[in-house]
Amino acid sequence: MSLRVHKPYILYDNNKHLFVWLGLDEAEAEKGILTNQYLVVDQGEGLLIDPGGYYVFERILENTSKFVDPVKVKALFFSHQDPDVVGSLNLLLDMFPEAIVYVSALWVRFLPHLGVLDTSRLREIPDEGGEITIGKSKLRIIPAHFLHSPGNFHLYDPIAKILFTGDLGAAVFPSDEWYLFVEDFEKHKKYMEAFHHRYLPCRKAIDKWLEMIKDLDIQVIAPQHGAIMEKENVAKFIEWLRSLDKIGLDH
Ligand SMILES: [Fe+2]
Ligand SMILES: [Fe+2]
Repeated sequence: MSLRVHKPYILYDNNKHLFVWLGLDEAEAEKGILTNQYLVVDQGEGLLIDPGGYYVFERILENTSKFVDPVKVKALFFSHQDPDVVGSLNLLLDMFPEAIVYVSALWVRFLPHLGVLDTSRLREIPDEGGEITIGKSKLRIIPAHFLHSPGNFHLYDPIAKILFTGDLGAAVFPSDEWYLFVEDFEKHKKYMEAFHHRYLPCRKAIDKWLEMIKDLDIQVIAPQHGAIMEKENVAKFIEWLRSLDKIGLDH
C-alpha cells in the first residue's frame, strides 16, 4: 500500500462550534508512532488537543490555519508529558503566540527541559481536573491518572459530545493498514490489546476512569493513536475496557 496524505476531517460542526481531526501523513509512521491531533473552534477561537511532536508540526500549522487564524488559537491541551504530545512545544509557542498551555501540575516543571525560556504561558491542571473556555464553550478536563501517566487527563467537549482519551483507546496498525473510523470492533480490538497491556496496565486506574465518565453523554471516542470510535463502538469500547482483566490485565 502506498503512503498517503489524509486531509483534515470535521467530526462535528454546528456553524459556531467545530471539532476537527487534523489529518495525517502516513509517512510520519517512519518518524515514530502515528498520532492523531484535534482542533476545537468555537466562535472563532481555537484549542489544539495533544498537538504532537516535531515532525508533525508543519501539518498541524497548515491544517489548523484552514479553520482558525493561528493568533486566535487560545489554548494547547496536553494530556500528559510524552514526546508525541509535547515535542513541538517551542514551535507551538512561536506560531500560536496567544496560546496558553494546559498540562498536569505534575509535569509543568519538566517542560522547561524542552528549552522553554518563558514559562509564563504554562498553566498547571490540578489533579481534580477543571475547564478550558474557548469562545463561548467550556471543555471539561477529566482526570485519567495512570492511563498511562501519573498526571494524565482527557478532554470532554459537551457540545460535540466527543471525549478525547489520549493514549486510552490507542491502537497500533500493521504497517500495511490504516483507517480513521473503527468499523469492525472485533478486528480493531486486536490492534489495541498489546498497547493497553504494556502502556496502560492498571485495572484500578481503568475502573476509576469508568466511574468518572459514567454520566457523560459520549457520542465519539477520539484517541491520540489509532482510530476513532463512534455510535455503537463507544459502548463496545467501554465494555472491552471492563473485560481487560480477563485477557491478562492483572496489575
Ligand atoms: Fe503516552
Ligand atoms: Fe501517545
